[in-house]
Amino acid sequence: SQNEKESLFIVLEYAQQYFAETMANTEEGQSVGQSYFIERGFSKAAIEKFQLGYALDSRNEFVKKAEKAGFSSDILEKAGLISVKEGDVKIDRFRGRVIFPIHNVAGKPIAFGARILKTDPKAPKYINSPETEIYHKSQIVYGIYQAKNAIRQADNCYLVEGYTDVVSLHQAGIENVVASSGTSLTPEQVRLIRRFSDNITVLYDGDAAGIKASLRGIDIILEEDMNVKSVVFPDGDDPDSYIRKVGGAAFSEYVKNHQKNFINFKTELSLADVGDDAIKKAELIADLVSSITKIPNPIKRSVFYQEVAKMLQIDENILINEGNKIVKTKI
Ligand code: GTP
Ligand code: MN
Ligand code: MN
Ligand code: MN
Ligand code: MN
Repeated sequence: SQNEKESLFIVLEYAQQYFAETMANTEEGQSVGQSYFIERGFSKAAIEKFQLGYALDSRNEFVKKAEKAGFSSDILEKAGLISVKEGDVKIDRFRGRVIFPIHNVAGKPIAFGARILKTDPKAPKYINSPETEIYHKSQIVYGIYQAKNAIRQADNCYLVEGYTDVVSLHQAGIENVVASSGTSLTPEQVRLIRRFSDNITVLYDGDAAGIKASLRGIDIILEEDMNVKSVVFPDGDDPDSYIRKVGGAAFSEYVKNHQKNFINFKTELSLADVGDDAIKKAELIADLVSSITKIPNPIKRSVFYQEVAKMLQIDENILINEGNKIVKTKI
């Protein structure tokens, strides 16, 4: 209900402030949480801009405090802030982790991502809020509130995988950036970005998983009638690690020189693999044609057919025929 949603916004704002204050004002928050961010190179300004925080390594410090402040355990649970109940004791969902609040477009916290401090093979690196009445992870991208004006101004949105990539790029002065936060990109997320620009540049991690996710993301973006480019980072780097290594100016230069439209991106990725193999070449062509059929705009479609025809030395009409077959079998 509308009333319940209002209550959720209020308790999440309370929680966000609690985590921020815990990091700023407690001994554990400073020596563990703040130190973690500072060691990663995050500035005080970036910490404040993204309202980063820390959750104490304790079973129920947060729930106790929130209940004392007047929040019912029912609303704390509906907000996703309680993980389990052990008898009468309700356990905090986030414990001993640094906190990344996830804001909606209007800047209100609606959920949290929480990172473990030390790598531990037995524990997940990130824990996120569950789906709630105000948090649907398929409908939001991390950082949209902080990025939206810059996206509009640049008429381009960088799409990265992680929270830390967003914060690091902002800190280096690149503010038109949002993260899909580990989930595979959805049409709703793309439409949210489209409110601010028709252009997306995918900057996923330079590992096999990141490249695979880029390829999937590209088709989703094309289907929403947006323009998409992709960049692959040197092996093992993500935007955060790369920008820390080379600095903002060299980062921007790298992106400018390595961004490729989806056809060149897919073609260059496969070409090494394809070689003289006719069957593999045919598969690559089928894949490119399939991506092109997802573009709603016929003029853009035609431009891309021409490009593939040129790159792979195939008659354009054959490509168009193949594309039409794909579209027909889909109906
Ligand atoms: P750092 O290791 O701190 O630099 O984070 P990262 O963002 O580079 O992590 P990674 O590339 O492994 O993952 C990208 C994004 O996927 C993260 O920012 C999270 O949003 C999400 N993610 C990663 N690991 C987990 C996990 O164990 N659980 C969940 N729910 N999400 C995860
Ligand atoms: Mn706030
Ligand atoms: Mn990764
Ligand atoms: Mn990283
Ligand atoms: Mn990463």
